[in-house]
Amino acid sequence: MRQATVYIDQSALQYNLNRVKQLAPTAKIVSMVKANAYGHGVKDCLAALKETDAFGVACLEEALEIRELGYQQPITLIEGIFSADEMTAAVENNIEVIVHHQPQLEWLRAHKDAYIAKELKVWVKLNSGMNRLGFKVPEIIDVINTLKAEGFTCVLAMHFANADAGNHPLNEQQRDQFLQVKQACAPILASCCNSAAIFKWPELNFDFVRPGIMLYGATPFADKSVHELNLKPVMTFTAEIIALNTIQAGESVGYGSTFVAEQNMELAIVSIGYGDGYPRAFPKQNYVSIAGKRTRVIGRVAMDMIAIDVTGLNAPLGTIVELWGKDCLVDDVAEANGTIGYELLCRMSARPQRKLT
Ligand SMILES: Cc1ncc(COP(=O)(O)O)c(C=O)c1O
Repeated sequence: MRQATVYIDQSALQYNLNRVKQLAPTAKIVSMVKANAYGHGVKDCLAALKETDAFGVACLEEALEIRELGYQQPITLIEGIFSADEMTAAVENNIEVIVHHQPQLEWLRAHKDAYIAKELKVWVKLNSGMNRLGFKVPEIIDVINTLKAEGFTCVLAMHFANADAGNHPLNEQQRDQFLQVKQACAPILASCCNSAAIFKWPELNFDFVRPGIMLYGATPFADKSVHELNLKPVMTFTAEIIALNTIQAGESVGYGSTFVAEQNMELAIVSIGYGDGYPRAFPKQNYVSIAGKRTRVIGRVAMDMIAIDVTGLNAPLGTIVELWGKDCLVDDVAEANGTIGYELLCRMSARPQRKLT
């Protein structure tokens, strides 16, 4: 059997959730499990996230999957519902919505009595400069005050565009607008922190924090590793050496013959490729790890295979190679591929087998 495998370490997930609790001790935790728990597999992650207060997902289908698995915690749809008819299932299944445009307010009002009777909160999204979703100031103040007068319990919600970036000027603008609206609509529940903001601005943790990437043990920052943040990688992605080749100086390897050996070398072929979610673009040198030793990927990544340099390594057929995990951090592999850990994790394919450690 092909040995491409994704291991999920549930104890690492619990550890990272506890890190959120340490950093935001008074806030409720809305664990972001959208996109199949950032590619980790929502079923296995929910089982490890029993201690969370709530879940955040991107759409009704993701929320219903959580209910079908038997979890009763509050769930927030962070983009709200996409059409009026979705509101019926949302209310029936105790799913809370974000509202970020006028039609969503009408769709919500059509179910007002049931929504309020079930004590579901309405998350009202502020657009403070990211310019994706939300009402701007001052419209949002009217929206919230009207909802409150109608009997809804509101949460003022906002998302930072640059929480991961040191001193971006938009951070201050977004924070100030958030605080302005919070004050104008007081008393109101509030939520604006993703992983990076949880680390950076404890004073903004308020009522609900929304950690995503930190739960999975990858970094939200370009300049701080998970080790510095005291987080543990949850996913380990491995594959097996299925062939060994000795090549002479001047011979090439793989599609496009982009790699030409400068000296004689030992190559191993590993059964992993972009068909499994392993990235193909290599602006810089990519690498893998064998028993804790890093070695480079050679030539182009194919759909099912890569070549690696095993010169001088004791790596016989059947050796297990770590593509990312505890030795090769996904953030470092992402960096070498001109992307971020989020993307590599989220685009894991369904092809590798999945196991719990
Ligand atoms: C609205 C919202 N909140 C929180 C998060 C979690 O962000 P992170 O994974 O950076 O913690 C996201 C992620 O995209 C989001 O869209």
